Amino acid sequence: MSKQFKRLLNCMRSISERIDFKPSLALILGSGLGDYADGIKTEYILDYSEIEDFPVSTVPGHKGRFVFGYIGDIRVVIMQGRIHYYEGYPMADVVLPVRLMKMMGAETLFVTNAAGGVNTNYSCGDFMLISDHICLAPSPLIGENIGELGVRFPDMSNIYDKNLRGIVRNTAERLGIKLQEGVYIQLTGPNYESPAEIRMVRTMGADAVGMSTACEAIAANHCGMKVAGISCISNMACGITDQPLTHKEVQETADRVAPLFKRLVTESIMEIYNSSAKY
Ligand code: HPA
Repeated sequence: MSKQFKRLLNCMRSISERIDFKPSLALILGSGLGDYADGIKTEYILDYSEIEDFPVSTVPGHKGRFVFGYIGDIRVVIMQGRIHYYEGYPMADVVLPVRLMKMMGAETLFVTNAAGGVNTNYSCGDFMLISDHICLAPSPLIGENIGELGVRFPDMSNIYDKNLRGIVRNTAERLGIKLQEGVYIQLTGPNYESPAEIRMVRTMGADAVGMSTACEAIAANHCGMKVAGISCISNMACGITDQPLTHKEVQETADRVAPLFKRLVTESIMEIYNSSAKY
C-alpha cells in the first residue's frame, strides 16, 4: 500500500470517528464564496485541524474546514478554505482533500475560484465556465502512484466533464447569467504575473489565470471523479490595464458578484442531479 494511501486511510478513520455522512458531491469554494456554506442546511462542520494526518496550516490564522450538508436534497461536502501550492505544501498535500472527499463518497467535484482575465474580450466580474486547463504548476501525481485510486498514466481528455459543462451552460442561460467559457491556466503564484507572462499564456491559449484548481482537477480525474469548474474573473490580468494588481481588488470584485455566483453554483448543482439519475 502506498504511503499516501495509508495517510488517506488515517484521515478517513479520523473523520468517520467524528461524523457519519456520505456526500455525493464535493464543492471547493474560491474567493468571494467563503460564506456560501453558511447558507446551506448543515449537518456537521469539521475543522481540518481535527483530522489526523491532514496537512497542517503554515499560515497564521488560516481557516479551513469541511462543511457537510445539503444543497436541496443533495448531500454535499464543502471545502471552506483550500490549500494552495504557494503556501509551501507539497502537491500531495494540496490535493489530499480532493482525494479524501472522493473516499468519503463524492463522485463529482465542483470547483470555483477567482481568476485574472487573460482573454481581452472578458470583463471584470464575468464568470467563466472552465472548458479545459493548462497546468504550469507541478503535476500532483508526481511520486509513487496511489494505485488504489487510479492508474499511473491517467487520461486527461475530458477533465471538465462535457455533460456537466452543458448543464452549467444551460443553467446560466436559464438564469440570464452571462457565462464565458474558456481555458484556465494554473501558475504557482503567489506573485501575480508580469505583462510578458500574460502575453505568453495568452499565446498558449489561456483565457484566465489563477493559482489553484488545475492540480485539484487532475487529482480528481485520476481518482475517477467528474469535474465542473467556474472561475470568477475578479480582475483583468496584468498588463491589460495600467493599474497594478492587488489582492484587495480581487477580493472586492469576488465579493461584489458573490450573490450571483452563489446562485449559479447552487442552481447548477441542483440541475446536475435533476437532469440525470446517474449523477
Ligand atoms: N493572476 C493569478 N491569480 C489570480 C489573479 C491573477 O490575475 N486574479 C485572481 N487570482
